[in-house]
Amino acid sequence: MWNRGPIVGPFALTDHSGKLRTDEDFRGKLLLIYFGYSYCPDVCPTDLQQIGLAVDRLGAGAEAVQPLFITLDPGRDTAAHLADYVPLFHPRLIGLTGSAEQIRHVALAYKVYYTKYPPRSPDYVIDHSSFVYLVDEDGKYIGFFPPGTTADRMVEVMRQHLPKP
Ligand code: NI
Repeated sequence: MWNRGPIVGPFALTDHSGKLRTDEDFRGKLLLIYFGYSYCPDVCPTDLQQIGLAVDRLGAGAEAVQPLFITLDPGRDTAAHLADYVPLFHPRLIGLTGSAEQIRHVALAYKVYYTKYPPRSPDYVIDHSSFVYLVDEDGKYIGFFPPGTTADRMVEVMRQHLPKP
């Protein structure tokens, strides 16, 4: 894992049940944060699947971990839409959406690159960076996993950072 800080920042977003959530709600948990969008044809589903597997493979430690999926496509990824999407990967995965401005703000804090292509088509795709960020129980940035990291590698690193029970 590489640490190129400063990364991480406060956010206030809407979860897939329609509830307002801020970063402070998740203090005490080791956070796995992934940015993507539900219409992503390939990369997002693959990475989210590894995240889901990693949480399961932590066994007893899994309760201390909270996986978050922050959409980069708030126009299409409404809370209701995310409610259908996130459970495909893990029952405890929380989907987060917001206004275009809120998403821009949190993406900037995490240095996430994303751009719509083609910008004016209704059938656009979003080109985006796909790192899995690890944030500790105090909200401090630990590092990121590069694209294509396996569930087993995530488990190995997460075990070193699990909050003390
Ligand atoms: Ni994607």
